Amino acid sequence: MRGKSHKGFFITGTDTGVGKTFVASGLLQAFKSLGMSACPMKPVETGCKTKKEKLVPEDTLRLIRASGVDEPLDIINPFRLKHPLAPSVAAELEGITIKKNRIISAYRSLSKKYDVTLVEGAGGIMVPLYKKYLFLDLIKDLDLPLIIVSRPGLGTINHTLLTIEIAKKKGIKVLGVIINHTTIIKKGLAEKTNPQVIEKLGKVPVPGIVQYSKSKASSNDIFRIIAQKIIL
Ligand SMILES: Nc1ncnc2c1ncn2[C@@H]1O[C@H](COP(=O)(O)OP(=O)(O)OP(=O)(O)O)[C@@H](O)[C@H]1O
Ligand SMILES: [Mg+2]
Repeated sequence: MRGKSHKGFFITGTDTGVGKTFVASGLLQAFKSLGMSACPMKPVETGCKTKKEKLVPEDTLRLIRASGVDEPLDIINPFRLKHPLAPSVAAELEGITIKKNRIISAYRSLSKKYDVTLVEGAGGIMVPLYKKYLFLDLIKDLDLPLIIVSRPGLGTINHTLLTIEIAKKKGIKVLGVIINHTTIIKKGLAEKTNPQVIEKLGKVPVPGIVQYSKSKASSNDIFRIIAQKIIL
């Protein structure tokens, strides 16, 4: 990493369940193994279960465990919601007001302290946080470059190019697309040809393809390669 500059990245996906948290966790550990301090942030987590009358944000906790940071939960995850819905919809149902300024100031306080801050969205880039304010707007307001996590198979060209296109139109820098295998699949022609098509038509690099892995350790190498590519 050049000097001791503080860097932030926003991790979105082409959809929910594509592996944003898995990839973010792998990258947090990779940055640490490269000698950098790394902190996660999950501005809004929906679909939280209730335990002992408290909402438990599973993604946030996974990210905290991967990074090993000791920060107040309300800074890393300012908003927790019960319903497994888009934040704007869940917040309205639960009588909670999501405020972008609380997210932005929490991000600023973390990003000042760590070499790398990784922010995970919820769902994809066009998901609303409140009213017409989308994750797309938050990424722009945070002034962060974007990493897109995509599925490997048929259909991903469309979803990935749409995500790249809307981000670029908003003036957001797209650093790359990470293709992630959430299950074991037999690789067909789509899986083999998609990375090149995405690079060519999306005009963004695919810095790595993450295979399905039962143990985190077996993905260490690919995450280290990706981390080095995106930090340069
Ligand atoms: N490369 C992988 N190898 C093995 N399991 C994976 C891999 N990627 C993701 N998974 C698993 O797939 C599931 C979905 O991944 P993950 O929770 O990271 O998705 P997400 O995009 O963060 O979802 P959400 O939109 O809910 O935040 C999880 O159970 C995760 O552990
Ligand atoms: Mg997640």
